[in-house]
This record gives sequence, C-alpha cells and structure tokens, in this order.
Amino acid sequence: MRVTAVHITRRDQKTADVLDLIFKRRSIRQYTEQEVSQETVTRLLEAAMAAPSAANGRPWEFVAVTDKVVLAELREALPGHYNGQAAIAVCANLSLASSPASERFWQQDLGAATENILLAAAGLGLGTVWTGGYPGMERAEILRRVLGIPESVIPMCLIWIGYAAESKPPRTQYDAQRGHWQRYTPKTAAGDDLA
Ligand SMILES: Cc1cc2nc3c(=O)[nH]c(=O)nc-3n(C[C@H](O)[C@H](O)[C@H](O)COP(=O)(O)O)c2cc1C
Repeated sequence: MRVTAVHITRRDQKTADVLDLIFKRRSIRQYTEQEVSQETVTRLLEAAMAAPSAANGRPWEFVAVTDKVVLAELREALPGHYNGQAAIAVCANLSLASSPASERFWQQDLGAATENILLAAAGLGLGTVWTGGYPGMERAEILRRVLGIPESVIPMCLIWIGYAAESKPPRTQYDAQRGHWQRYTPKTAAGDDLA
C-alpha cells in the first residue's frame, strides 16, 4: 500500500486517542443516577472477550448487572458501597477453557479482560472502578451469594460502572527509574545505577 500523508495523519490520530484513553481512565467511586443501558454493557463485554489469553484459552465468564435490586444488594454487601449503575463480575470457569494453559494463566487472562472493560468504558464516556474479589475469599463469597455464582466458578473481581459524579485528572505515573533499557540495571534505593 502506498503510504500517503493522509494515512499517516489518520494513524497518528488514532494512536493519540488510545493513549488519551489510557491516561484518562481513573478509578471512579461516585456515580450519577444516570442508567447504563444493556446495549452499552454488551459493548463492554465485547471488549472483554477481545482480550488476549494464554493459548487463547478464554477461561472467563462475566455476570453483567443492570437490575437496580441486584445492584443495591451488591452495594450493601460490599465494602465501599459504590453507587455504580451497572456492574460486571469477571469470573474464571476453567471447565470452559479451551486450553490447559488456562490453569496457570487464568488470573493474567482475566486481568487483560478486566483492563479491556475499563478502557472501553473510558472510551464510551463511562467511569469504572476495579474492585477485588479472589483471592479475597470474603468478597468472592459475597459475589457468589448475591449473583448465584456456583463453587466451580471463581469471581475474580467486580467492576462498578456508571457516569462519573467526580472528576479526576488524566495522568501517567511514568517513572523512568522503573524502566530498564536493553538490559536490567540494578539501582540503589535512591534510584541511582549501582554499576
Ligand atoms: C487488583 C485490583 C484490586 C482493586 N481493588 C479495589 C477495591 O477493592 N476497591 C477500590 O475502591 N479500588 C480498588 N482498586 C482500584 C485501585 O485502588 C486503583 O486502581 C489505584 O488506586 C490507582 O488509581 P487509578 O485507578 O485512578 O489510576 C483495585 C485495583 C486493582 C488493579
């Protein structure tokens, strides 16, 4: 394909958009009363299931919640009592995995799916917060009880979703000391190179 100035401009624009979203995504813990449609939550599930997974094992299932009664039960039972207008429980079901690799990699696989949801939500103008389940068994048990998740399925986290009622600035937490170039360079506690 002949690369023209137009192609380059368009590609740069898209790259900038992705980075903007990554920096814009912040944990939002206060939401407006505006509902989140089932259609929007479906888009988030599409994003989740587009995530990479070890050997494409896809060891995941998701419980999407938009019902006010179920949301209220979650809010009351879980720490934080966040008032998200939708939620997604990201779960592992190893019996559905299409690869034995999922037994070792499922937490990484589900982490990738979770981040996809957070970034897609940011792109759709929604706020989110990732809240922990497994290995915190107390919270995982709350998710099991309220959402009817069986013992064979592991609720790894719950993502609260909604339109933000608080504003947080976009940011990177870039720290040059944490990035090593070409080979690992040991640092002193002050961050200076040891060698
Ligand atoms: C594995 C994991 C568990 C988390 N659990 C909670 C939680 O239980 N409650 C909460 O309010 N935030 C939780 N967070 C959100 C973090 O507190 C938040 O990402 C971090 O403070 C950085 O802020 P930021 O998301 O605005 O960049 C969790 C994040 C991760 C990745």
